[in-house]
Amino acid sequence: MSIELLLLRLIHILCGIFWVGSGLFTALFLFPSLATPGVQPGPVINALRQRGLMTALPVAALLTIGSGLRLMWLTSAGFSGAWFATAPGHAFATAGASAIVAFLVSLLVARPAAIRSAQLGGSIARAPAEQRAVLGVQLARLRRRNAVSSTIVVVLLVLAAAGMSVARYLN
Ligand code: HEM
Repeated sequence: MSIELLLLRLIHILCGIFWVGSGLFTALFLFPSLATPGVQPGPVINALRQRGLMTALPVAALLTIGSGLRLMWLTSAGFSGAWFATAPGHAFATAGASAIVAFLVSLLVARPAAIRSAQLGGSIARAPAEQRAVLGVQLARLRRRNAVSSTIVVVLLVLAAAGMSVARYLN
């Protein structure tokens, strides 16, 4: 195995583990805990942002996708149709596409909704009483959007990881 292939696989699998693991933790444990009555999600989301989670996750996702595309280029001999027609080629491509769609949904829908709801959560406390009901409705809508899109992202990521792990052995 060439050094490039070795490094690509290391980057791909380590970043993929971090990406999918963080997605599962967030959707299954963090968000439900933040939705517990009495818990203030705003400060927790802000602290996670300050620790760099909002940067680390997209960077890990981009590294997974970038290394995956390069691995695909190398193993398929330049994206040859014959490789995609094989069962493993087809499975790697479908699983890879699922991960890319997950990345786009998290970047374009889940992330803006999470950032906006953290901001709104902070401003509700300072808002005049007559505006709080309106802001509360907006906040509930944003949180629902974030919860639904995060669930979609996590399902797509699990499908991608499952496909990646069995693809080689399909025939
Ligand atoms: C959720 C994100 C992903 C995870 C967790 C993941 C995980 C993995 C794992 C564990 C392997 C090793 C499988 C084996 O050797 O049998 C692998 C291989 C591979 N992945 Fe991914 N992957 C992800 C996303 C992607 C994406 C987005 C692409 C490209 C579009 C991709 C393309 C590939 C290819 C071509 C291989 C085969 C490499 C080889 O033959 O050495 N992966 N992936």
